[in-house]
Amino acid sequence: LRLLVLHGPNLNLLGTREPSVYGQMSLPDINKSIARRAGELGIAVQTKQTNMEGELVTWIQNARGHFDGIIINPAAYTHTSIAIRDAIAAVALPTVEVHLSNIHQREEFRHHSFIAAVALGQIAGFGPTGYLLALEALTAHLEAGGT
Ligand code: DQA
Repeated sequence: LRLLVLHGPNLNLLGTREPSVYGQMSLPDINKSIARRAGELGIAVQTKQTNMEGELVTWIQNARGHFDGIIINPAAYTHTSIAIRDAIAAVALPTVEVHLSNIHQREEFRHHSFIAAVALGQIAGFGPTGYLLALEALTAHLEAGGT
């Protein structure tokens, strides 16, 4: 299995960005822990980060034929981006939405996700562990023959 892990805007600043909300772990360290768990699960992962909405759209479009599923933390675009939602719906690859923080516990504007309706599921509030939970959940889904 091949999974694509996408990190959206400002997640390149993890470690120094509002550590009380997002924790102390840097994005390279999170990506290393994702790669380690993928190795244990016997799957291939590619991790990418961008601050640009259109770049996420293009990467999602291009995932078709190259990946079996997508894990995405769309960051602030979660709450604004119909384009990212439409790209996920278009490629029809099983997609898990991840948030480090519990968005439902925070400001009202973070409660709505445009992505949730086209996602297989959402994991929020477990910090960097959420990516590992998403890897396990998506791997189990795909190994069970899910689409
Ligand atoms: C986030 C939550 C979003 O509301 C916020 O804009 C982010 C990060 C999270 O991982 O908790 O940038 O997606």
